[in-house]
Amino acid sequence: MDRQELDNLKQWFSDYCRTFHTQNAEDQQNITLKEEHTLHVCDNMAAIARDLSLDEGRVMLAEAVALFHDVGRFLQYKKYHTFRDHISVNHAALGAKVLLENNVLRSVPKREQDLIIRAVTLHNVFAVPEGLDGDALLFLKMVRDADKLDIWRVSLEYYTQSEAERASAVGLDLPDTDGYSPEILESLRCREMVQMSALRTLNDFKLLQLAWIFDLNFVSSMRMVVARRIVERIASLLPDAVEIKNAVDFVRDYVAGRLRET
Ligand SMILES: [Fe+2]
Repeated sequence: MDRQELDNLKQWFSDYCRTFHTQNAEDQQNITLKEEHTLHVCDNMAAIARDLSLDEGRVMLAEAVALFHDVGRFLQYKKYHTFRDHISVNHAALGAKVLLENNVLRSVPKREQDLIIRAVTLHNVFAVPEGLDGDALLFLKMVRDADKLDIWRVSLEYYTQSEAERASAVGLDLPDTDGYSPEILESLRCREMVQMSALRTLNDFKLLQLAWIFDLNFVSSMRMVVARRIVERIASLLPDAVEIKNAVDFVRDYVAGRLRET
C-alpha cells in the first residue's frame, strides 16, 4: 500500500464518520470518542509496525487495518445506541460488512483487501484463533495490541471523569462498589483472560483490563504500557487490599520480565 492509497482510505473514513454526526450532544460525544479512538489506534499501530522494522508499504497497510478496525461502531451506535456487542451486534463483523458493502477497498490489491477484512473481523475475538500464520497473524496481533493500548487510555479517562463529562456509551452498567470477585483475581494469577460475562463489579472490569497485559504480543506494546504508566494508573483506581496489591505486583513483574527478554 502506498501513501496515496492510505490517504484515500483516510478520506473515505472521515467522510463516512461525518455521515453519523448529529446535533444531539450525547450521541455526538460517543461518535467523536470512536473517531478519536481510531486515530490513536492508527498511531499505536504505526509505532508497533515501525518497531518491527516493517517496510513503509507494510506500515501503511498496518495503519489501514487500524483505521477500519472499529468502522462497525458507527452503524452499531446508530442502530442500537450502545457499544456493547452482547446486547446489540458484533461490531467487528459489522465493520467487515460495511467495508464490503461500500466497496471501500476496491483500489487495494486483493491480498491486502483479504488481510484487512480478516483483521477487522477478528480484532475483538477472545483469543487469536489457531491456524492463522504469516501476515494474517502478524497484522491481527498488531491491531489487537494497538487497540488495547488505546482502550486503556479511553477507560482511564472515563474513570477519572465526572458523570457529566463521561461519554454515555463507554459505561458497562456494572456497580461501582468496593467489591471485586476472587475468581477474577484467580484468572489474573493464572495469566488468563477474563470473559466479560464473568464480571460482577466495575473493579472486576478494571482487573480484566489489567489481565490484558498478558495478551500483549509485542515488546513495543509493553514499553508503551510502562511509558504510559497503565498498570499504576489502573492500580490506583482499585481498592486498597493486600490481594489486589499482590495481583498488581504480579502484573508489574510480568511486564518487567518481558522487557528484560529484549
Ligand atoms: Fe473494536
